[in-house]
Amino acid sequence: MATSAHRIGGGRPLSMDLSAHGARFMDPAFEAYLDALDTLVDQDRDDLGEIVAEEVRKLVRCCDWLPEDCCEPGVDSYRRHVLYADPRGRYTVLAVVWRPGQTTPVHGHTAWGAVGVYRGTPSVEAYRCDDGATAELCGEFCCCPGQVSHVSAGVEAPHRIFNDSDDIAITIHTYGRDLTEDPASINIVL
Ligand SMILES: [Fe+2]
Repeated sequence: MATSAHRIGGGRPLSMDLSAHGARFMDPAFEAYLDALDTLVDQDRDDLGEIVAEEVRKLVRCCDWLPEDCCEPGVDSYRRHVLYADPRGRYTVLAVVWRPGQTTPVHGHTAWGAVGVYRGTPSVEAYRCDDGATAELCGEFCCCPGQVSHVSAGVEAPHRIFNDSDDIAITIHTYGRDLTEDPASINIVL
């Protein structure tokens, strides 16, 4: 699967330093999201994905903060754009763009994660994996803009995300590790 990472700027957007980080980061909703993440990820708790998802809900409720070049799809596969990587490696925020028909494999994750729908109507197949190797389909649903979900590290609840609609879909993903070099390494493909 092609992973086309697009990284905006070289680090955390700073409101006092437009020239170093780019005005595209100056959206207040995205800044507020990063501020919330910085506080949350230092907490030692097992439900980080779930509580970060509540912050994602606020972010994807806001429209049109994502720069146009981060809405660009891939040709042969869904495309990841790295929006922001925490300098301390605690988390990475990505926009994932899906053309009609594009899909992930069935997969789990190497870290906790929170996901929200920014645009379009992507679909999800939910699986169960009791033996750590074999995925059994247990549900399918279509998502709407503003909808959020969360995942834990591991393969106990694998899933497949795909775009079964006729329009581009965009989802915002935050994962609890540094994915700057290899965003695809978040997935454990079954
Ligand atoms: Fe996933």
